Order: sequence, then structure tokens, then C-alpha cells
Amino acid sequence: MSYRTSPETVLDLVTENEAHKDLYINDEVFDLEIQHLFRNTWVYVGHASQVPNKGDYYTTTIANQPLIMVRHSDDSIKILENRCAHRGVELVAQTHGNTGRTFSCPYHAWTYKTDGSLIGIPVKEGYNNTGFEKSSATKGLQTIKNVCIYRDFVFVRLADEGLSFDEFFGESLTSIDNMVDRSPEGRLEVVGNPLRYMNNCNWKMLVENQTDSFHPMIVHYSSAGTVKKIWEEMQPYEGPKPMVVECIVPFTMDYDFYKKMGIRVWQNGHGHTGVNFSIHSDYADASGYFEKMVKSYGKTRAKEILDENRHNTIYFPNIMVKGPIQTLRVFKPIAANRTLVESWIFRLVGAPDMLLERTAMYNRLINSPTSIVGHDDTEVYERAQEGLECNGNSWMNFQRDHFSPEGKSSEEIFDGSTEAQMRNQFRAWKKFMGTTKSGPNRYDAN
Ligand code: FES
Ligand SMILES: [Fe+2]
Repeated sequence: MSYRTSPETVLDLVTENEAHKDLYINDEVFDLEIQHLFRNTWVYVGHASQVPNKGDYYTTTIANQPLIMVRHSDDSIKILENRCAHRGVELVAQTHGNTGRTFSCPYHAWTYKTDGSLIGIPVKEGYNNTGFEKSSATKGLQTIKNVCIYRDFVFVRLADEGLSFDEFFGESLTSIDNMVDRSPEGRLEVVGNPLRYMNNCNWKMLVENQTDSFHPMIVHYSSAGTVKKIWEEMQPYEGPKPMVVECIVPFTMDYDFYKKMGIRVWQNGHGHTGVNFSIHSDYADASGYFEKMVKSYGKTRAKEILDENRHNTIYFPNIMVKGPIQTLRVFKPIAANRTLVESWIFRLVGAPDMLLERTAMYNRLINSPTSIVGHDDTEVYERAQEGLECNGNSWMNFQRDHFSPEGKSSEEIFDGSTEAQMRNQFRAWKKFMGTTKSGPNRYDAN
């Protein structure tokens, strides 16, 4: 049986509580995800602070579509196809830089403005009287129509039709709001390049892991547990708790801690851990920060912003943000068994440098290719991928704490032990795969 020739059958690969292993290992299912899921949803491109000046650009790929995010001469941000209108050659090979006022193709030097319009063709008279002006090539680079910039976070929906940005994200945007509001100026800036590394597993395993509250105390026992043991042996210790201890030791917290953290689930696959508190709640104060926040927001609002300590927020399909530590991770699907992870960090504009120092340290400790924590997860993802490639039970189970019908209201809050957010992701997966249904009802069934 081929999913490519009967794509509607992929919808049977997800039940209320289980997902078939073909979701993780089958190349045709992966291709259908790229073709449908990643085009029907609002997918993160980048942050406006990556292109602060006119002509600054950043390149990426979404749903096999190479894209350029560029700051145009009128200061707006354009998202363009990164392929020449002449013969399809990739225009820009670098991940970022400044192109000035134009892009020039490396093959025959067709030239485009930063809004994609074609403005130069060498020896253009060769096209005289050929009817060239009627060709699609003269339209220049295609610009992506459905772009939304929310508090400097840039998203696109490649499909022409679908849910609006607000319909798709709804209340989940409060996690981005909280991260941005932590800046006394209400602004974030990307700092440096992301930490990148490849995982030999399916992208969904990484997304599921972000709200899997029942793995840290097991998987991270050897790494975080060792830091905890050393810290205990160092007692009594004079002076402030080292940042590394603050960042790593909470990974050893017990089931009860993670249960009480709570999980909030929103429609369309979004959700977060850490409703009541999180592993980020007990970080030391940065000198002078609260005063700056009070000056900007007033005492009540400043306290409200800083008391919100959400853990991991999934923006379906493939990013996770951590407001209290200002990181964003992108899980880029490369193949059924390959996922590139990018971990970005942000500066809270106007806040003390110590907060950026902690953010950068957290990212290095947990998310870098040489991390001592992230590799615990990588190990289990790859072992799961290998296991699924073999014979055995064909279904992945996501049944923990599934007591009643879910997905009926726009927001639901659960005990942190639940796998409800994973089930929520699979409901969204089915909804946005939309492989065979067409027309206005395509996004209705949840
Ligand atoms: S392919 Fe770009 S100018 Fe020919
Ligand atoms: Fe983990």
C-alpha cells in the first residue's frame, strides 16, 4: 500500500491515544507532512531583529521551499522565494548577510530589488520581439503572501487558504507576550547564531519531548543528578548558588513537582508545561531588574509578568519557546529520520546583562552539540527511531491520564503528568494534514 497514491489513509495512522510507527519512519508520510502539514500551518521563519538594517537578509527553508527574509528599502520585511525566476537557481547561499539594494543571481546575473521585482537582465535586447514580457519570469521573485509579524516573530503560511494567524494561534500567543514583556522596553533581540545539531530521528519525537514531564527525572538522572550530587557535597557553601546549578539541578525534580507544574492545552496543537510554576521559577534576581520593570509597567503589572514562569510552550508544528529564560528552539524536519535543531537566544532589551548571561549559559548547558543534558534526550530519540524501524508493536502509546473527551474547548488545564498535549498535537496533525478533503470545511474537524 502506498500513502502517496492514497494519501487519505495516513489519517488512519492516528487514533485517540496512539500513533502508528509509519508517522516516524515512512518516507511517503514524511513527504505528505511537508506537502500539507507544513504548508497549511503558520510556521516560524525568524525574528525581525535578525534583519535590523535595510538589505539585511536571513535564509531558511520551510516545507522544502527555500526562503529569504529581507529588510526592504521601505523598512518592511519581505519573505521571498530563494530561487531565481529565470531557471530556478538558488539566489542566496549564505544564511545571513547584507545584500544592499538588490539580489543578483550567480548564474546569468538577473537582478532583483529586495521586494522581489526584476530590475535587470544583462543584454536584454536578446528578448526583444520574443513575447518575453508575457512570461512568468518577468514577474520576478515570488513573495510569500501570508506573512504575520507578531511582536517581531515572523511566521508564514505557504498555503493560499487556511486559518488566519489569530485563529491558528489564539490564546497561545500569551507565551510570546510574556517573553517579550519581560523586557522593560517590550522588545527582544536575537543574540548571535543559533546552536545547531542534527538528530537522527523524526521531528515529532522532539516536539513530543518538550511537554513530556515524566522523563527528566529518569533520562537526565546521570547528568543533572551528578550536578546535584556535587552541589550537595559542596555544602556548606558561602555565596550565591552558581548559575550552572540553578540551570541544571531542577531537571532532577521528582514526579510530584512535575505533576503540580500543570499543563495547558490550546486548540490547533499548541500547549505548554508549567502552568503554576516551573523549573525556571527559582532563579536568582538580577540586580536592578525589578526596579526597571516597575518603572516601565508599574508594580502590579511588573509582578504579574515576572510571576508567570511557563516552562515549555509548543507552537505547533515545530517551535518551542521558553519565556522565563528567553530561548526558542526550531525543530526542522529534514527526512523521516533526520531533524535539525536550532536553539536561539534573545536579549531582553533594557534588562541587566546578567539575564543574557544566564540565557546563554542555559542554552550551552542544555541545548548545545556538547551539552551534558540535551544529549540524554538525543540518545533516547535515536534509540526510539531504531526500535521503530524494527518489527514489534507498530503503535506508539500516548494514553497517560486520558480520562475524558479532550479537545472540545479552546483551553484545557491538566495535571502535569498527562500526555494530553501530545494527543493535542496528533489531533492537529490530522486536521492540518488535510490531504484529501478540500474546500472551506477542510480545517473544521478537530
Ligand atoms: S538562473 Fe538566475 S539568471 Fe539565469
Ligand atoms: Fe529532556
